[in-house]
Amino acid sequence: MSADSLIPPHGGTLVSRMADSAQADGLPVVTLSAKQACDLEMIAIGAFSPLTGFATKADFESICRDIRLADGTVWPIPITLAVDDATKGKLSEGGRAALQHSDGTHLATIDIQEIYPHDKKLEIPNVFGTDDSAHPGVKAVEDEGDWLVGGPIDVLTVTPEKEPGEQFTEFRLPPAKTREAFAGRNWKTVAAFQTRNPIHRAHEYLTKCAQEICDGLLIHPLVGETKPGDIPADVRMACYMAIIENYYVPERTMLSVMPAAMRYAGPREAIIHALVRQNYGCSHFIVGRDHAGVGDYYGTYDAQLIFDQFTRKDIAITPLNFEHAAYSKRAQGMVSAKTFPNIKGDQIFLSGTKVRELLQAGERPPMEFSRPEVADILIKWAQST
Ligand code: ADX
Repeated sequence: MSADSLIPPHGGTLVSRMADSAQADGLPVVTLSAKQACDLEMIAIGAFSPLTGFATKADFESICRDIRLADGTVWPIPITLAVDDATKGKLSEGGRAALQHSDGTHLATIDIQEIYPHDKKLEIPNVFGTDDSAHPGVKAVEDEGDWLVGGPIDVLTVTPEKEPGEQFTEFRLPPAKTREAFAGRNWKTVAAFQTRNPIHRAHEYLTKCAQEICDGLLIHPLVGETKPGDIPADVRMACYMAIIENYYVPERTMLSVMPAAMRYAGPREAIIHALVRQNYGCSHFIVGRDHAGVGDYYGTYDAQLIFDQFTRKDIAITPLNFEHAAYSKRAQGMVSAKTFPNIKGDQIFLSGTKVRELLQAGERPPMEFSRPEVADILIKWAQST
């Protein structure tokens, strides 16, 4: 099977902004935040197709207001290059700038089409549905610079020289490579599973249901910037490998990472998560309860309902919606309110706080909640922090 028979990328063309040279000599320097470096990588590898750079004013405003680029293509969250007054003073429209990692690595250049005020009052309530500074995504935008720099980028490398820790190079496949891998496995339909957590039994249930109806499953954890308190990506990767080895069919399951930053924007982030997975070649996308949510800012199923605003022409990937799932003692298996009667009080539910307490005490959460192989990795991590 050829990769051409897979779902087309969002907007029709898989972008690549990787360049052999991105001459930076003498250019003013913009040092990227962790979130901006993640966005740069996502644009460079085509995961954010059809984007070719950071948002211009017309796109920024149209995305915030209408969930679309200025040309009408669906896009839910502006991908911005925010800079402070001092950096803005070094830049000029029509010029270029060098984009650096915080460790000093030269990553890319940007052709500066526009420099315009960062309208946070437009962005924050529209993207996040709240302006509460306690929301981590809101806070991140509030803390950003007051100017936005828009224009296409040319990216020399996405790999910082000195950043400590694991890059998951072996699992860091760009969209063109996951597409090749799917074609090589003869998978015409592929369900993508976004996660920022270890895979517990409810997650596993969703992915297995999806496997029943698709040729393959892409377990696609987000490994870019997350908020303090989330489980680090290297610990999660160990958990994913352990659960796949013991509980998944290798011929039907693939693990790869998505280098995006988490925004916790609930419904709008569910759309970007889906479009990105379409770019990676997936035909279906799992959306469960409170997808990409944080605290209680979003309704349990808001991230599913938002897809109803769009047609097939707008968003080609098919969302696979799941109700809140948990283990039922009476059913002796994973269920939701859709599949088992009167589950109230019968389901095994553990809060995040309770799970952390158990892990720190060296105790495995019940096997109806988490597979023991995963629990053991988390216990080791919880006790070492
Ligand atoms: S997320 O930020 O990536 O959405 P998480 O890793 O917890 O967080 O969830 C991954 C996916 O599983 C999301 O689609 C989420 O909605 C779904 N999900 C998580 N837990 C459950 C559950 N108990 N029942 C149904 N869906 C769930």
